[in-house]
Amino acid sequence: MKLSVNIDHIATLRQARMTNEPDPVTAAALAELGGADGITVHLRQDRRHIQERDVEILRRVIKSKLNMEMAVSMEMVKIALKYKPDICTLVPESKDEVTTSGGLDVSMFADKIQEVAGNLLAAGIGVSLFIDPGIEQVKACHRLGMRVVELNTGDFAKNAGNSYAKLELDKIAKSVTYARKLNFTLLAGHGLTYQNVRPIAAIEEIEELNIGHSIVANAAFVGMKEAVARMKELLAC
Ligand code: PXP
Repeated sequence: MKLSVNIDHIATLRQARMTNEPDPVTAAALAELGGADGITVHLRQDRRHIQERDVEILRRVIKSKLNMEMAVSMEMVKIALKYKPDICTLVPESKDEVTTSGGLDVSMFADKIQEVAGNLLAAGIGVSLFIDPGIEQVKACHRLGMRVVELNTGDFAKNAGNSYAKLELDKIAKSVTYARKLNFTLLAGHGLTYQNVRPIAAIEEIEELNIGHSIVANAAFVGMKEAVARMKELLAC
């Protein structure tokens, strides 16, 4: 299973002092050396971690795939069209959240999603929609003609080890089966760690996981290359 490494929190540490270290571009290069199949950054509207300049340089430097997470907004579309990431992941974004707090409500925001995704796709940029597991969300993505979804593993991850996690895992597995029948490319992520990733990594139909915080936290102790390599080992088992 592939791994896209989210390096937002390297930039969080840099922004804590408004300085120039640690550098997300160096982190991305080391992540690739450790085996990352892609690099993910979330260019938030409040620019609390990743800055536009990071996206510009990453686009030129990284050798794997650049995934830019972004709010469903035309302001973000303009930026994406400028830097041309390989794929953009559309996420709901709100000012007060600590991190992305759930998936998109695709039915409710269908028109806006279609407008934003249409502009990206027309420019040759891939589009993935970050959704909570559930058949209704998958159906809504299909109605919009989408081809790629990232399933939110946040609720599974938060409850790892208790019975709710099993229910959530079941929901993820059912969404995967349904989405594969509709020919979706399936990605998943949020809240995954070295401890809880295995049951998700065991779902063969999921092509790629998107993992950030846990890898960056481990990188503080063992280095980015090693932290990524250890996660890749778990995904291979
Ligand atoms: N996928 C999406 C859509 C996200 O917004 C995030 C967090 O930025 C992640 C995956 C990675 O989550 P985590 O940092 O908890 O691994």
